[in-house]
Amino acid sequence: MIDFTSRQIPKADIAHQLDCIEQIHRRNALRPEPPHFYCQTFGCQQNEADTERIAGMLAEMGYVRTQDAAEADVIVVNTCAVREHAEKRVFGIMGQYTHIKETRPDVTICMCGCMVQQEHIAEKIKKSYPRVDIVFGTHMLWRFPELLLRRLNGSKRIFEISGDPKGEIAEGLPVQRDAGCHAWLSIMYGCNNFCTYCIVPYVRGRERSRQPEDIEAELRQLVADGYKDITLLGQNVNSYGKDLGIGMDFADLLTRLDAVPGEYRLRFMTSHPKDASEKLFAAMAEGKHICHQLHLPFQSGSDAVLKKMNRGYTKEGYLALIEQARRYMPDLVLSSDIIVGFPGETEEDFQGTLDVVRRGQYDLLYTFLYSKRSGTPAAEMPDNTPAEDKQDRFNRLLQTQESINQQRQDAYQDRKLSVLIDGLSNGKQESEYTHCGRTDGGLLVLVRGEDLHIGDFVDVEIERTSLRALYGREIGKGYHG
Ligand code: 5AD
Ligand code: SF4
Repeated sequence: MIDFTSRQIPKADIAHQLDCIEQIHRRNALRPEPPHFYCQTFGCQQNEADTERIAGMLAEMGYVRTQDAAEADVIVVNTCAVREHAEKRVFGIMGQYTHIKETRPDVTICMCGCMVQQEHIAEKIKKSYPRVDIVFGTHMLWRFPELLLRRLNGSKRIFEISGDPKGEIAEGLPVQRDAGCHAWLSIMYGCNNFCTYCIVPYVRGRERSRQPEDIEAELRQLVADGYKDITLLGQNVNSYGKDLGIGMDFADLLTRLDAVPGEYRLRFMTSHPKDASEKLFAAMAEGKHICHQLHLPFQSGSDAVLKKMNRGYTKEGYLALIEQARRYMPDLVLSSDIIVGFPGETEEDFQGTLDVVRRGQYDLLYTFLYSKRSGTPAAEMPDNTPAEDKQDRFNRLLQTQESINQQRQDAYQDRKLSVLIDGLSNGKQESEYTHCGRTDGGLLVLVRGEDLHIGDFVDVEIERTSLRALYGREIGKGYHG
């Protein structure tokens, strides 16, 4: 009999971390002023959610968050490995942070996340960044209190990037979320897909789903705490539950969570097309809280490239899928990720990508130039396309999307939309539109009106549009679900 819960970290191990938190707290309480911490996050929403856990642990230890690294006693840099550009930026910034130690040698500098999970990067930090105190990988996040205590107690530099490469799940750690209406809620970790360009499965381990009751309890708490826009997170949420063996899939989870009462919206990301199902679209269409928003990366519009990427679907299969999604939700807001210049991509392959962009009619595209990641299969594939050709394709892709984007934005003219006000607009030229918010589909709206408050659901009539935002006037208040 398989023990499906074996990946959960034992309660006693979590209790030990809480004890370390308490020990650091006692120490900090003796100081005349509370010490400070500074966190910087690179990369995706999962990393942002992880940073919220680290911030939660540090806050419980008695550290106060600062936006100024120069006054911090603990600096944590949570890194990303998805593209080379992010790694270069991290190394650039580490130079600045380690410099702080010249005047304040007691500062503890920590690096964590996907980038440091790679052996060669850890080695580079060991050799070239001697002032970095603690390096811990994605599987070690829950042990941060223990590592910090060890270092504060005078241990030599700490490098902990091992851990169970399959990954584990740690429940019961503190979290400090950013203030506001929006919260991340991780439902699973890791990825099993091994797309040939992608480093994620190597640095975040195998797919593992949280128990539905733990997710539901966290959602109830978030709603009780006043969060109104909650995003369920996972590298591929559509494979939720496969590892649990309880006959529950992502659509079932969504339906269960949707039953939690309250005035809030539920969205999710990221979805993999090979696992997105009609059942999912039906659950989205029927849900009271579930937003009609789908981020469905297609990466390439060429079957040959998709095959080399190990994506598990074809161009036409993908297009049929989004057509099905739109039949269930005609108001669906759709976004996607695209990689340009995958090894061996020809002009004809790229034309296939442009074709999907035109036929898919996306509201938003995240476009990336292929970045070689050592250790992935694509890094070994011949890549003879000159960099200028790749850049030229990339520019043409942006142009194509821009005109589609404008048309899609224009179609909202005079429409009435429900908007969650989530901030003050900083647009100086648009001073009339004092607030900003998001539609159910996640579109940005600048809003004008009387007596607007952050956290309010308001009805807005769109008065004009631009490429980046819709502009509207408040015509009513209230949550409609
Ligand atoms: N090069 C470029 N883009 C990548 N992505 C993942 N790996 C790479 C890579 N090696 C993109 C994919 C993915 C998004 C999160 O990042 O489009 O969907
Ligand atoms: Fe990477 Fe593919 Fe997994 Fe997404 S689904 S994290 S692109 S391996």
